[in-house]
Amino acid sequence: MDHLKKLTNEVGAPVENNEHSITAGPRGPVMMQDVWLLEKLAHFDREVIPERRMHAKGWGAYGQFTVTSDITEYTKADLFQKIGRKTDVFVRFSTVAGERGAADAERDIRGVAIKFYTREGNWDLVGNNTPTFFLRDVHKFPDLNRAVKRDPHTGMRSAQNNWDFWTLLPETFHQTTVVMSDRGIPDGFRHMHLYGEHTYSMYNKENKRVWIKFHFKTEQGIKNLTDDEAAKINAVDRESAGHDLYNAIKNKDYPKWKMYIQVMTEEQAKNHYENPFDITKIWHHSEFPLIEVGELELNRWPENYYAEVEQSAFTPAHVVPGIGFSPDKFLQGRLFVYGDAQRYRLGVNYNQIPVNQAKHAEVADYSRDGMMRTDGNYGAAPAYSPNSEGYWAAQPDVMEPALDIAGAMWRYDPADDPTDDCFRAGGDLYRVMNEDQKKALIDNTARNIAPCSENIKYRHAVHCTWADQDYGKRMVEALKLDPKTVDKLAEGDHKALVKETLPGGKFSTKPCEMSCSECKDPCIETAENKM
Ligand code: HEM
Repeated sequence: MDHLKKLTNEVGAPVENNEHSITAGPRGPVMMQDVWLLEKLAHFDREVIPERRMHAKGWGAYGQFTVTSDITEYTKADLFQKIGRKTDVFVRFSTVAGERGAADAERDIRGVAIKFYTREGNWDLVGNNTPTFFLRDVHKFPDLNRAVKRDPHTGMRSAQNNWDFWTLLPETFHQTTVVMSDRGIPDGFRHMHLYGEHTYSMYNKENKRVWIKFHFKTEQGIKNLTDDEAAKINAVDRESAGHDLYNAIKNKDYPKWKMYIQVMTEEQAKNHYENPFDITKIWHHSEFPLIEVGELELNRWPENYYAEVEQSAFTPAHVVPGIGFSPDKFLQGRLFVYGDAQRYRLGVNYNQIPVNQAKHAEVADYSRDGMMRTDGNYGAAPAYSPNSEGYWAAQPDVMEPALDIAGAMWRYDPADDPTDDCFRAGGDLYRVMNEDQKKALIDNTARNIAPCSENIKYRHAVHCTWADQDYGKRMVEALKLDPKTVDKLAEGDHKALVKETLPGGKFSTKPCEMSCSECKDPCIETAENKM
């Protein structure tokens, strides 16, 4: 047995047996003094940490980001200062609504969180595979998640809850169109674009600020799955996107994305025709062209899933000098919530977990103590600031430029802004789709919304009509709704539509309780039904 690696207990002492409990007699009860057994069971009982509230199912990989183009006129961030400069990264991809055991190939947005280990500290860009988001006020985010996650009564996912919430909030329309489109189920993570979504800022060595959006275009090409293809894959492989990424890296077919920024000056932002800090709006590429920055490559699979992927923690609050936030109120909310979630999920010292540590910058933040402090806790260095020992002085030269903010403090509703149009972006997207993509959008939506009550279907059909007449007409046909009723409802505004479609109105609010596969008389018309 001398050639085998030796088993020890938790503090390094040899363990003589790992299979048989110590009992009082061959058929007797287990003894308290089997301390190795007690330790093994107690550790096992605590092996599960809370899963992320959303984005629970994910996969990660290491790689590098390489600068290919000069953007120093916009930013002084060290990682962008030289063409050819490489920065180590860790990236975690995820689905959003499903729990840790959910299947990968679900219709859902995909998260992408990128940790850049720069020489000025870690920068986390925490984005998705869609250019915009469902909501624009952080107040509504917990509700979105409750609507897409499990129903409190049945414990099941509920299309009724999903669509009820979405159709009551017109700002979700563009994102709903994206999720129901052919891009709603990417074929793995390698075949999708990645977006920062929010408006961020950059400032250069002269402390001049511009507003920025981040884009990463896949070099593998876009590839998506139909509902049918995804259902077949999920039946045999719930980890399909994980397998795809793992195999690509194992076979040295390293996935790559080209990074771009869109730039808007402060002056342009003041005169923009809609709120440039509203995450539900896009910046048209024709007006704000993509500027190449560099290339992201993933080329190393983590050694241990739990240590490196499950314990990874990203927050938009982690920026480096030269990159900053913006007045986007959704982003402002996120600046608080990630660190808060991670202190709950991983503990107050979560940044000491190796995958989260700054790798190329020294950390000196005065934070001490707390559960699971595993480094030297700053030894004998002073614990307070300022001090006369010359320790850790703040660095005023990295202060970002001041930002003028005007207006009275109030709970503003963006819908009251006369420039606000929640349906233009969704309509524009529909108009650039080819015929196959339009058909896929209508069919996917019809299947998805099929179990929902009549009032919700009418609400959505009216939204589609407001976005584009043809989109509306085809949705009405697919959902077998009355076109005259939709036209009548479309004459009013969204507030009137909500009033007409709440309980007590003329529409049924009862969802269908039968699964579509059992139904002999489908309430929707899709390409498959017609055949
Ligand atoms: C104000 C709105 C939002 C709130 C309150 C919020 C909250 C959260 C929370 C609590 C987590 C789990 C964090 C953890 O336990 O480590 C999370 C994960 C995540 N969120 Fe958000 N989120 C918001 C909006 C967004 C938006 C707009 C995006 C994309 C631009 C996004 C992308 C992600 C990603 C990618 C993850 C997974 C990070 C990882 O892989 O560990 N979230 N979010």
